[in-house]
Amino acid sequence: MIGLKIPKKEANRIRLILQEKSILNHEWKIRRLDDYVYIPLTQRPDAELLRDLNLLNSNLIETEFEKLQKRPQSMEGCLKGRIPPEKMDEFKKSFDIIGDVVILEIPDELEEEKYLIGEAALKFTKRKAVYRKKSEIKGVVRTRELEHLAGDDQPVTIHKEYDSQIMLNVKEVYFSPRLATERKIVTDQIKEGEIVIDMFTGVGPFAINISRRHQVKIYAIDINHHAISYLKKNIENNKLKGEIYPIEGDVRDVLNDLNIQADRVIMNLPGTAHEFLPIAIKHLKPGGIINYYQFSRDFEEPAERIKTAAKTRKVKILGQRKVKSRSPGVWHVAIDAQIS
Ligand SMILES: C[S@@+](CC[C@H](N)C(=O)[O-])C[C@H]1O[C@@H](n2cnc3c(N)ncnc32)[C@H](O)[C@@H]1O
Repeated sequence: MIGLKIPKKEANRIRLILQEKSILNHEWKIRRLDDYVYIPLTQRPDAELLRDLNLLNSNLIETEFEKLQKRPQSMEGCLKGRIPPEKMDEFKKSFDIIGDVVILEIPDELEEEKYLIGEAALKFTKRKAVYRKKSEIKGVVRTRELEHLAGDDQPVTIHKEYDSQIMLNVKEVYFSPRLATERKIVTDQIKEGEIVIDMFTGVGPFAINISRRHQVKIYAIDINHHAISYLKKNIENNKLKGEIYPIEGDVRDVLNDLNIQADRVIMNLPGTAHEFLPIAIKHLKPGGIINYYQFSRDFEEPAERIKTAAKTRKVKILGQRKVKSRSPGVWHVAIDAQIS
């Protein structure tokens, strides 16, 4: 194959010009030997270019080059040639990365290729374990079934979110890395000294992010025993300015037993949070804020639900956001409401 043999000290200048002229061959490796560099070309340079480069015909050589192994730029690239092209479209490339764990969605049509896809995900993401979603998020504790595809079958991991270290078991607890920005938004709203109730805390990502940055008191409640044990580990593993009180139990029972009035209540249980609005409002100081979440097509319905639950108390909507898409037209919606 045609190439140029150039003294080492000239190589960089000439390589850049060849690249500009589009005759540098990117599919083959540039070779270095003794005081010379061998550059693969897509075509023979004409006399004018050789003159511009200060080169002679004797710099032109016929030689062997080594094929460049290109790293794929995407999982699709990784699977090219291994999965039939017509099946590529069926493969949902969206995946969640939680610490060292990758969680993928693979449709039934790709059952036979699932391990190939798992291995590609492992290689592409350089994580340690790959699981496939085997069910929707379900039940009171909001977990899903997972099928192990590649790497270690190790569901315990530490996820980093804005310098917080969140330890969890992806099979035993709910956790979504896609709420990171929302948790940052709420963390930014917090004022020093606030008393916060995190009604559905899970492994505590809201509580940990907030108390890492603010001097607050957070009552972090969850019905899932595993979630509360990971929250306790997360309290130990992070340097916190605030205090977190982890409490296992149904939030209705816990709040009935606790005589507290909060400056803020976080209600991240978007499927059924509306059922808990009356008890949240009961434990909110006048002028306190509710960070309320709901699956909805619009902002009006969740805002109405808050107003209905507040009865005679005045509600001021401070903010509203579409946090993430749940299904076509339906959003995980956030409403920040001040209740006087
Ligand atoms: C959608 S997850 C949210 C977890 C967490 N806030 C986060 O951002 O990762 C909802 C959590 O509510 C908990 N939960 C559901 N019903 C509950 C109840 N009645 N009382 C306390 N916790 C409850 C579940 O166990 C689950 O961990």
